[in-house]
Order: sequence, then structure tokens, then C-alpha cells
Amino acid sequence: MSIISSFEEYKQQYQQSIENPEEFWSQIADTFVWRKKYDSVLKWDFNKPEVKWFEGGKLNIVENCIDRHLVNKARQTAIIWESNFADEPSRHITYQELFESVNQVANMLRQQGIKKGDRVCIYLPMIPQLAFAVLACARIGAVHSVVFAGFSSGSLADRINDSGCRLILTSDGAYRADKTLDLKSIVDEALLKCPTVEKAIIYQRTKGKVTMKPNRDLWWHEVVGFQSKACEAEEMDAEDILFILYTSGSTGKPKGMVHTCAGYMVYTNYTFKTVFQYQPNQLFWCTADIGWITGHSYILYGPLSAGATTILFEGVPSWPDMGRFWHVIEKHKVNIFYTAPTAIRSLEQAPLSFVNNYDLSSLQVLGSVGEPINVEAWHWYDENIGRKNCPIVDTWWQTETGGIMISPIANVTPLKPAFATLPMPGIQPAVMSEKGAEIIENNVEGRLTIKFPWPSMARTIYGDHQRFRDTYFSTFPGMYFTGDGCKRDEDGYYRITGRVDDIIIVSGHNLGTAEIESAIDEHSSVCETAVVGFPHTIKGQGVYAFVICYEMPKEGETLRQEIREIVSKIIGPIAKPDKIQFVRGLPKTRSGKIMRRILRKIAEGEVSSLGDTTTLLDPAIVEEIKAGAL
Ligand code: WTA
Repeated sequence: MSIISSFEEYKQQYQQSIENPEEFWSQIADTFVWRKKYDSVLKWDFNKPEVKWFEGGKLNIVENCIDRHLVNKARQTAIIWESNFADEPSRHITYQELFESVNQVANMLRQQGIKKGDRVCIYLPMIPQLAFAVLACARIGAVHSVVFAGFSSGSLADRINDSGCRLILTSDGAYRADKTLDLKSIVDEALLKCPTVEKAIIYQRTKGKVTMKPNRDLWWHEVVGFQSKACEAEEMDAEDILFILYTSGSTGKPKGMVHTCAGYMVYTNYTFKTVFQYQPNQLFWCTADIGWITGHSYILYGPLSAGATTILFEGVPSWPDMGRFWHVIEKHKVNIFYTAPTAIRSLEQAPLSFVNNYDLSSLQVLGSVGEPINVEAWHWYDENIGRKNCPIVDTWWQTETGGIMISPIANVTPLKPAFATLPMPGIQPAVMSEKGAEIIENNVEGRLTIKFPWPSMARTIYGDHQRFRDTYFSTFPGMYFTGDGCKRDEDGYYRITGRVDDIIIVSGHNLGTAEIESAIDEHSSVCETAVVGFPHTIKGQGVYAFVICYEMPKEGETLRQEIREIVSKIIGPIAKPDKIQFVRGLPKTRSGKIMRRILRKIAEGEVSSLGDTTTLLDPAIVEEIKAGAL
């Protein structure tokens, strides 16, 4: 399958991929190393739902990400690690070194009794050991579950318990700008509630004081350093689980999305090369954290399987000053830069001198991911970072989809600001009306669904296939429902308009409103809560909480502070409410259901168009909430 190099070729390949998907994907699959070739390309039934790609195939994804490159690229840099501290030397890790480091961790895991299929939790900052840990699990067939190191002990414990992890890889602490976070104490607190965890392996990053629990905790340097640098990779079935990654759901607990080996490998590799038009020897930088899907697919698996050099950045965009990203681009001569709208919007606020101090002429392609990019931020990115010389690929996808689904192809697809544009080859989107009919025409708006399987789609929710089915395959039977709304314009271009369910996206992080509500309800003064999103100039969306207390607070500020702290403790700082309004009641229907639509309008400041409120139990409460809106 040739790489697409013109819009005509895109259209042709797209057509082929739809008419003959099996042939299309098998040609791409044949560019990988298989221990045994697959028997069938695709078997599927969206009603169950069940999807199997490359069944019968045997492989190991790490052999495809590392071993096969050793022939020609042993001395090429695989990963450049850039520290939180601008003056700490960066590390260049070659493919040979990556191979050896991964093998040592893999051997250590085996020595600790970890076998194929066992779940391993990884709770580490953005340091090279995080990459080693992920790949080491994949090498021995252990299922990795990376938990973003900004989550609280409660969130960590829930994720560990949901998947029954036997071991956790973590560090003493983490650096974040000028702060040091005490990861080990968070882990200690979490593990009090995690009976399945037998061992914790602690990497020393901050050298802070930690307490080691005898028979459970081991220092990384004591158990990894002496291991052999060779390690036989486990032979995996195409459909064996590669990893679990949690994402917020619109009700209750987070969902452990399950991704499998072969399809995920094929699709992340294909989209990495196609979307960014990656050329050998280019330097690729995705600024996401490996704790999210973007980091899994486009810091590690996509770039490494393509033999690229990928940057792993421990720091934040705003420290030591607002020029840090641009400094790193100049320092390493980054060619492809992939970041989130929330970062762009916050850097846009800083004086332009922070950008203009640096030479960004190495840049060739820019990317955006995680939330809709507004037109203004798009133009700022285009003019000031790309110098009107770099295409911007606005990539729409999800934890559930594993890889980029709708996106321009760099230098191929004609761009339109704020449009994710057209589907990748093999992806068949459909716009549905709320009533459930497919809308065929252009110039329409509706709910975004996907009609046909693609290789990297999640196969299930760990331990809860029924929930997988209910969440994604029941709203529009026979189709995958994304939870997003979209518009399709006269050219067939897609513009993603945002979530249509109870998930809000704050600074690119998905948060379930139900999860935040139950955290707030933990406060002893709180009786009931409703949380909605509201437009926020930097974060995209902010968290607005309407809170009923047993006794209306007189002053409120102290209570607000306590509520923020409790949310931070139960979920993590990312979920802290921006606005907390104390109310006497909530707009409820006679059957007791909260009318979130009304609260959303109030939070958005659109109080003139609340729609029909006569069906409410107590219509007067709406006026009162409106009057007190923040
Ligand atoms: C949103 C991140 C508009 C969308 C890869 C989706 C986007 C959710 C875009 C998934 C984009 C992601 N334009 N919206 N380019 N990319 N989204 O699981 O609402 O963290 O459903 O995966 O982010 O977020 P997740």
C-alpha cells in the first residue's frame, strides 16, 4: 500500500478501503513482523458486539517496535527525553539502548512472577522508565494499565482494583514545574485498599524520603540493574489484550477500555505515517502524557513501530516560562509537533516575544488533538508557530478508537480551520439524527457514529461487556456511537462540535459529571449536587457545580475551598470545580430527574432561552438559580 501523497490518491485509497476493507488492511498488515500469519482479516458483529482482526496471527508488538529496527537503526535515537528542568541534560536513547532497557525491566517482571495476561499498573511520571515499563509489559504479554500520575490515591485504587493488578511500577516522586509531588505516599494510601497488588517497584526520581513496606516494596535500581539485557518476547495472539486504559464514563465508575495486540499495532502505525506524512529521520514530538491514549499511540507505539525518533517531555508548557515548548523545538529541531488546543490557548495569552525568541524553522507539520480547536486558536497556531508554512492536522479520535479517525492528511487534504475534515481510509462515519435515522446529505448536523469496524477499536470494557454494549452499540443499533456531536458541511468535511453526553472535556481531559458529583457529595455539609460544563477561554470547558447544602452557607468561600479540596483528593486536581453555586433546589422533573439542559444554559450564561420549564416540579427554583448564577 503506497503512502498517500495527493488528494486524488487519498480519494482512491479511501474508496478501495471501503469497497474492499480486508484487502486494504491485509496489505498494511503485511508490512509487519508476524511469528505466524493470520488466518482471517476481519470477523465482526456489532450486535454482540464482537470484532476480531487478524485472527490466528501470532506476534509481539515490541518486536515490531524495537527488534526489527535493530538491523539498520540500532544506533539511531528512538527516544529523546527532555526533563522538567530546562538545564538538566536531555537523554538520547538509541534503539539498541531501548531494547536493552526494556528487556531488563521485562526480565525483572518475569522474576517477580508476572506472566502473560497478568495486569500491571504503571503510575510513573514522564521519564524514560515509563516507556521501558510499558514496553516491558508488552514484551512479556502482561497487560499494562497506565494511570496518569495526576490522579489521586482513590482514583488509582479504583483502577487497580477494577482490573486486579498484581504489581505496580511507580516512583518516589514526580517533578511538575517547580513542585515535587509525592507519588509514593499516594501509592501507599491507594494500596491499603488494593488486595491484589503483591509488589511495588519504586524508581528513584526525586530522591525524596519514602517508607518502603517490607515484602512488598522494592527499589527499581536494586531489582532491574543486574538483569540480563536479552529477553525472549512472548508470542501473542492477534486478539490477546495489549493494554487497558481507563476513561471517564457518563455514569459512575471509569471504563477500562481494552485494546488488543495486532489491530492496535497496525492502525497506530498506519495513521502515524499517513496523517503526519512522517518521513524517515524526522523528529516527532507529541506533548501528551503517556497516561492518556494520545501518549500510548503517538509517543510510543505509532512512532516506534515506524522506527521514528520520538520526544518524551517531563515538563509543562509554562515553566520555567511560557517559552518552554518553543525552546524544546529549537533545541532538538523538531519537525512534527502534536499538541492540545488547551495548551495553544494558554500559550496564546503570553506575549509573542516568548515565541519569537526561538527559531522554529525546523517545523514542518503541526497537529492538534483532544478537543475542538476554536478558529482563533487555529489561526494563532498557524501564524505564529507554523509561520503559515505548516499544515495543521486537527485529529479527531478517542481512547476507545485507539488511533486517529477523522483528520486532514498533512500536505494532502485542503484545510479548513477548526474542521477535522475527512475520515481516514477504512473509517466509515455516519451522521445520525436524534431519532436514529442516518442523514445522508451534506450541510447537516447530528450525532457521530461509525458504521464499520477498524483495527484499533476497543474490544470491550474490562470485566463489563454489557456496559460496552450499552454505552457504544445500543443508541444506534448496529453502529458504534462516539458520544460526540458533529456537523458535516457542503464538502463532506466534519466538524466535531463536542460531547452530547454527560462527559465534559476540561483541558483535554475527559471527566464524567457523575464522578465529580459523587466526590462533592462526600462533603458532610452537601446534600445534593449537579455538575455541568461551561465554556472556558483556556480550558475549553470548565466545571460548574450547583450544590445543595443541608444548611445554606452564609459566607460560602471556606466551603467552596473544602469542596475543591475534596474533589482534588478523590479524583485529582484536574477535576476541581471552577465555579460552585450554592442553591436551595435543582430543576427536576416530576419523576425526579435533573434537567441538566437548563443548568447547562444557566452555566453558559444563556438564560433567555431556557425552553419549556413548566413540566418542572418547582419552576420557581429556576428563577432563583438564574439570579444567583456566577
Ligand atoms: C474530543 C483523545 C474535537 C471528543 C484522543 C472525543 C475532539 C474526546 C478532538 C475523546 C478533535 C478529541 N476535535 N474534539 N480533534 N479530539 N476530541 O478519549 O469529544 O481523551 O470524544 O481521546 O475528545 O477524548 P479521549
